[in-house]
Amino acid sequence: MKTTALLALGFLGTVPSVDAIPASVSGKQVSRALDIRPRALPNAPNGYAPAHVTCPSSRPTIRSASTLSSEETTWLKSRRQKTETALKDFFGHVEIDDFDAVSYIKKHSGNYSALPNIAIGISGGGLVACLNGGGTIKAFDERTEGSTAKGQLGGLLQSSTYFSALSGGSWALGSIYINNFTTVSNLQENLWNFTNEIVLGPSTMSPVDFWATISDQVKSKREAGFSTGDPDFWGRIQGYQFFNASDGGVDYTWSSIAETQAFQDGDMPLPLVVMTGNHRNTSTLGTSPKQYPIYETTPWEWGTYDDNIYGFTPLEYLGTQFIDGVVPSNDTCVRGFDNAGFITGTSSDIWNEYGQDLVYYFEAGMEGLSSNSTDAELFKYIIEEFLNATSSTNSTINGPAYYPNPFYKYNTATSPVADEVDLVVQDGGETSENIPLYPLIQRKRNVDVIFAVDSLGGDSDYDWPTGSALVATYNRTLLNVANDTSFPPVPDVDTFLKNGLNTRPTFFGCNASSLSTPAPLIVYLPNHDISFASNYSIHTENFTDAERDAVIMNGYNVATQANGTLDDEWSTCVGCAVLSRSLDRTGTTVPEACTKCFQRYCWNGTASNQTTTKSSSTSGSSSVQGSLGAALWSAVLMMGMAVLVTA
Ligand SMILES: *[C@@H]1O[C@H](CO)[C@@H](O)[C@H](O)[C@H]1NC(C)=O
Ligand SMILES: *[C@@H]1O[C@H](CO)[C@@H](O)[C@H](O)[C@H]1NC(C)=O
Ligand SMILES: *[C@@H]1O[C@H](CO)[C@@H](O)[C@H](O)[C@H]1NC(C)=O
Ligand SMILES: *[C@@H]1O[C@H](CO)[C@@H](O)[C@H](O)[C@H]1NC(C)=O
Ligand SMILES: *[C@@H]1O[C@H](CO)[C@@H](O)[C@H](O)[C@H]1NC(C)=O
Ligand SMILES: *[C@@H]1O[C@H](CO)[C@@H](O)[C@H](O)[C@H]1NC(C)=O
Ligand SMILES: *[C@@H]1O[C@H](CO)[C@@H](O)[C@H](O)[C@H]1NC(C)=O
Ligand SMILES: *[C@@H]1O[C@H](CO)[C@@H](O)[C@H](O)[C@H]1NC(C)=O
Ligand SMILES: *[C@@H]1O[C@H](CO)[C@@H](O)[C@H](O)[C@H]1NC(C)=O
Ligand SMILES: *[C@@H]1O[C@H](CO)[C@@H](O)[C@H](O)[C@H]1NC(C)=O
Ligand SMILES: *[C@@H]1O[C@H](CO)[C@@H](O)[C@H](O)[C@H]1NC(C)=O
Ligand SMILES: *[C@@H]1O[C@H](CO)[C@@H](O)[C@H](O)[C@H]1NC(C)=O
Repeated sequence: MKTTALLALGFLGTVPSVDAIPASVSGKQVSRALDIRPRALPNAPNGYAPAHVTCPSSRPTIRSASTLSSEETTWLKSRRQKTETALKDFFGHVEIDDFDAVSYIKKHSGNYSALPNIAIGISGGGLVACLNGGGTIKAFDERTEGSTAKGQLGGLLQSSTYFSALSGGSWALGSIYINNFTTVSNLQENLWNFTNEIVLGPSTMSPVDFWATISDQVKSKREAGFSTGDPDFWGRIQGYQFFNASDGGVDYTWSSIAETQAFQDGDMPLPLVVMTGNHRNTSTLGTSPKQYPIYETTPWEWGTYDDNIYGFTPLEYLGTQFIDGVVPSNDTCVRGFDNAGFITGTSSDIWNEYGQDLVYYFEAGMEGLSSNSTDAELFKYIIEEFLNATSSTNSTINGPAYYPNPFYKYNTATSPVADEVDLVVQDGGETSENIPLYPLIQRKRNVDVIFAVDSLGGDSDYDWPTGSALVATYNRTLLNVANDTSFPPVPDVDTFLKNGLNTRPTFFGCNASSLSTPAPLIVYLPNHDISFASNYSIHTENFTDAERDAVIMNGYNVATQANGTLDDEWSTCVGCAVLSRSLDRTGTTVPEACTKCFQRYCWNGTASNQTTTKSSSTSGSSSVQGSLGAALWSAVLMMGMAVLVTA
């Protein structure tokens, strides 16, 4: 720790007793499972601390990843009715010359396997990814003022079935879903205030009071018998910044999204948050970082479709000890582990890459702030508590979250984590796959088109996107780690740069019949400067309101191509991308206007010096780049988290 910071605060004395320290929470506390409250999001049994509860009579189990969950399958029936209505509205203002898209939707009404199945994925990249991704969502949201005029794309969000995010992008997704599916406009006006570094807490609390409070919240989890680390603090910070709820939404669970009526009615897309798995002994996971598990979080479940682990645990009971997929008959269940901030905190957790814990950024931020002895006492308490909180987790790869392993003794023949009592889980963008595409390319989900929003460059701070996130995902699909996925070929990064595929929207996988397996069409939306140079460093953790709004507006302009002023057929072309696979399935002639769009926006298949084809699955594992350290270091530079830069 920085002694200078402590000295600056005048702390030299003994540890006093501090009133802010709460009564401790006894471990292994057993309470009744709570009744589900209507519209209730704050349904954790015991604040931030997970609690042992009596298992429900139908005891939770780990399910095989061989199918979608029954919850998702049921929910899709409601959602598809809503997206059909929304598509008719969308094509009310998105027009295609000589083609009546509204009649087309009506003609196939109720035939959901014929109609378009749309997904949106927003990348990581720290706070700027939250804002740029937020700008895209604002453009796609029919509730945004002016978004349903000609040339605009409002209604695409309402027409989508899936919405995935990771890391900084998950802060935007979390802000929307935990706040009752609110709008980005509303978040701008009423919640997102990044004038101060977010690590110092909200404007309503002093930084030391804030940290003392979250330290106590994290402590309650540790005292309940669970591992804690940076992502607990990071997630608590996010709760205060992104959730409009008392105590930073300390008792809001992610699984409670599934309890809300609007979600059950299918009024919004399915939110998916992506995280990367790691391991205490990294060699267990194979030689390529790209083989590391990719976990997804739905409102119902947490787990992976990767072939080797291949299982999902009910999210509400994450934290429960399962053995070979079941909770031993003499054991209790755990609820409240899936704190909402902890979910986004894990997805954005790459503190392990900075060689310093989160608390150092707090310390640094505190340097020079005026203080008094009460603050100094709290400060000492905070540092101690932080070190206590993180001491139980592996200091070598300090930072990642440790989840009690729901896959213990599960799929022992194939799973690399079957012998682990806990799982190392970290930033969803590690291994370079900085756009959360994996949940969306599962063939079981039959996604037709993915709007892939890329907020961050691949090489260093202040770079614009390079396409590297798409390349990394494509590469992983060649590794035979997830046999039920498919992704269209994309060129190498060099071609992205040389041909400017990173400075305008580009479609990949346009020609479905040329693909060896059915794959979604990818609409790549790389951030580029239209109205504002929003290529901030991922380290940027504070924005004035004007900067915040300018980043959001640039994201909006990328999505709409400056309200169609860069190309007055852009909204038509988006409509064509939406319809493309559906037209194939229904044997409908592609409208001339769409053919022109595809000529303009589809990648023409030429790489600048090599042709990438998905003809075999042999190339992947030979291309492992260097050591884990080197690979992750490069990942650091492109991934979604924010680190405070201090003098
Ligand atoms: C959530 O939003 C919906 C739609 O705007 C609204 O009808 C409902 O009252 C809101 N619920 C809460 C708890 O604010
Ligand atoms: C916020 O960012 C600016 C640079 O944009 C920096 O000078 C300042 O120190 C940061 N922190 C605060 C608390 O304003
Ligand atoms: C945003 O936070 C800053 C710094 O804490 C504070 O001065 C300002 O009043 C806040 N703005 C709003 C609209 O609450
Ligand atoms: C901590 O992680 C490192 C890196 O993966 C590994 O080498 C080491 O064995 C781990 N230590 C413990 C105690 O698990
Ligand atoms: C895909 O992987 C799963 C899980 O390992 C396995 O059960 C299934 O048979 C595999 N399918 C194919 C086609 O290889
Ligand atoms: C449950 O029973 C098993 C086998 O007898 C034992 O090893 C385990 O400690 C017991 N667990 C609890 C929570 O009592
Ligand atoms: C010292 O700081 C604490 C918390 O920030 C505040 O409540 C208290 O009023 C301050 N005391 C003095 C003497 O300024
Ligand atoms: C940290 O842990 C030590 C040893 O268990 C304990 O004595 C101390 O009170 C703890 N400090 C805090 C702030 O919880
Ligand atoms: C993808 O794979 C190619 C060839 O195997 C390799 O050269 C490239 O570095 C990889 N790119 C990324 C971003 O993983
Ligand atoms: C594909 O596009 C690139 C640059 O946009 C161009 O250099 C190349 O010639 C094109 N290939 C074909 C076959 O049209
Ligand atoms: C696009 O329209 C919005 C209002 O809907 C406006 O604020 C923005 O400046 C426009 N963009 C451009 C590039 O004109
Ligand atoms: C393409 O050629 C450039 C030099 O012209 C080289 O730097 C780059 O590595 C090449 N890319 C591939 C994928 O071979």
